[in-house]
Amino acid sequence: MSDSTDTNTATDPWAEWILRRRDAGTEGGALTHLGPVRDAVLEGAALAAGETLVDVGCGDGMIGMAALPLVGDDGRVVFTDVSPRVVDACREAVDTAGRHAARASFVVTSAEDLDGVEDSSADSVTTRSVLIYVERKERAFAAFHRVLRPGGRISLWEPLNCYDHPERDGRLLGYEVGAVRDLAERVRAVYDERQPAATDPMMNFDERDLLAIAWRVGFRDLHLSLRIEDRAPRPVEDWEGFLASSPNPLAPTLAEAVESSLDPSEAERFLAHLRRPAERGEGLYRHAAARLVGTKR
Ligand SMILES: C[S@@+](CC[C@H](N)C(=O)[O-])C[C@H]1O[C@@H](n2cnc3c(N)ncnc32)[C@H](O)[C@@H]1O
Repeated sequence: MSDSTDTNTATDPWAEWILRRRDAGTEGGALTHLGPVRDAVLEGAALAAGETLVDVGCGDGMIGMAALPLVGDDGRVVFTDVSPRVVDACREAVDTAGRHAARASFVVTSAEDLDGVEDSSADSVTTRSVLIYVERKERAFAAFHRVLRPGGRISLWEPLNCYDHPERDGRLLGYEVGAVRDLAERVRAVYDERQPAATDPMMNFDERDLLAIAWRVGFRDLHLSLRIEDRAPRPVEDWEGFLASSPNPLAPTLAEAVESSLDPSEAERFLAHLRRPAERGEGLYRHAAARLVGTKR
């Protein structure tokens, strides 16, 4: 993004994250690991030519852009997101892709309301990593139900952070920090205070909650796959980028968390210890996610 558009990032953590922080310190950008997730969400959406997809929390358009060829010349993709800046960036990306632009529309709206999206107007609703930011999840599912035609489908994928939060002792962001455990605990406390595991909408639900909510608002034929991976964390390739990155849009960067919890000499000692396991990818990273599909009856 150009400098002239940077003035809003302080009040728009979504734009900051999507457009800048998400890829920091990783090789190849987000699509490298998100491509299979995108494909799984689209498979669940089961789009046919001529259909209309509403993608909720579209971000920079990863799912909707890949859906455009699937709905074909007579279909439509409605890109929606709560962040005006994200929607602008998404529109720009779709415009750059040119030939799709006429079949794409863009709505700034919250997942809880989907204001501006008509009742029964969609054949499919997709969303990925958006409900984690939504406090009133039932209201969002009700909005998905409202905009779908009878027989329409939801296909969503959400991380289940409750499976690894609060993070186990001796690790920070998955990396082994046992040797500086006392300092790591203070850094971790900054993350935990910002997003308490018991109450933060990003942590306080699991796959059974998603199933129960979907059923309550009227979705049927629900299929949920739970995937839990325990693996070594990815080796950090760009240390400075890693320091400037955050695990999610509402979390501080690692540099911010360290600076606000440790004095300069502690920070130096802590980062010197962290760097080695981080660059070697030593530790244990647990990632859990649910993929849910269902039909409006
Ligand atoms: C992690 S990104 C995912 C973007 C996109 N779905 C993807 O798969 O690449 C989360 C997106 O959710 C949007 N978002 C956050 N809260 C929202 C809400 N209440 N309603 C709609 N969108 C929201 C953010 O602006 C951001 O674009």
